[in-house]
Amino acid sequence: MDTKDIGELFSLQGRTALISGASSGIGLHAAQTLFAAGASVALAARRSDKLAEAVRRIDPSGKRACAVQLDVTDSSTIAPAFDAAEQALGAPVDIFVNNAGVLFAQRFVEQPEDKLDWLFDTNLKGAFLVAQEAARRMSRVGRGSIINISSSSALRAAGMLSSYASSKAALLHLGSVMALELAGKGIRVNTICPGNIETDMQESLTEFEQALIKRTPMRRFGKPEDLDGALLLLASDAGRYMTGAVITVDGGQTLSWM
Ligand SMILES: NC(=O)c1ccc[n+]([C@@H]2O[C@H](COP(=O)([O-])OP(=O)(O)OC[C@H]3O[C@@H](n4cnc5c(N)ncnc54)[C@H](OP(=O)(O)O)[C@@H]3O)[C@@H](O)[C@H]2O)c1
Repeated sequence: MDTKDIGELFSLQGRTALISGASSGIGLHAAQTLFAAGASVALAARRSDKLAEAVRRIDPSGKRACAVQLDVTDSSTIAPAFDAAEQALGAPVDIFVNNAGVLFAQRFVEQPEDKLDWLFDTNLKGAFLVAQEAARRMSRVGRGSIINISSSSALRAAGMLSSYASSKAALLHLGSVMALELAGKGIRVNTICPGNIETDMQESLTEFEQALIKRTPMRRFGKPEDLDGALLLLASDAGRYMTGAVITVDGGQTLSWM
């Protein structure tokens, strides 16, 4: 295999991706990466001003990138988001990055019910329903890759994160069941578990930042671009025999949390 073949293996030319939670952080960077690898990309989230600005930056021509409105907690916005993406980009979505998510950190005994509802509605029910829509559409064309963004907190206990970690553990398990059910339809489902990645979400953890860095064998937090390798592997033909896989990208945090 020569270098050109290796490039082709990871190429996303002709693919169409929808990324939820693409108005900032990991989702925004994932959209840039998939675009750079050749995919057309639909950036989905609630903040339309941020999305429009990101689309202008990624693809000033507007031919291979578009913004679509999506609130994962409002199921009436889900199918229209896919419709808008497919109309703007002219092809069915065959890569879905299930990334939209929220976090709050609080002791277990203090977590209020309204915040629990908000978190589970977004991280679990929302992720479930958007993935379901993606899978239904991919089933029609007989191919697709769904990449769930869980968290290393799904893999080991993390204080103050009882609701967040349990929502992400449920998403991890959901990914396994999806992989099992959808393999026969040509749809691969895999999960990335990032450790601490420097984004807006981390602002709620500043109090614990130094302690967390100390517990990270690589002695730094990750950056959204540290997820590029896992993302491209799972989105492209390079990962064609992978389904139900869990890839941890956390600088070794999971090895030494406690
Ligand atoms: N940063 C980390 O250390 C880390 C570690 C492990 C896993 N993760 C996971 O990575 C994902 C992205 O997080 P991030 O760090 O990039 O945080 P972020 O910068 O805060 O981004 C979160 C994204 O989710 C979107 N979102 C939130 N609620 C939504 C809703 N109801 N409907 C649609 N979109 C919604 C936000 O867009 P709008 O507000 O515009 O809707 C935003 O684009 C999350 O699932 C998070 O749990 C992050």
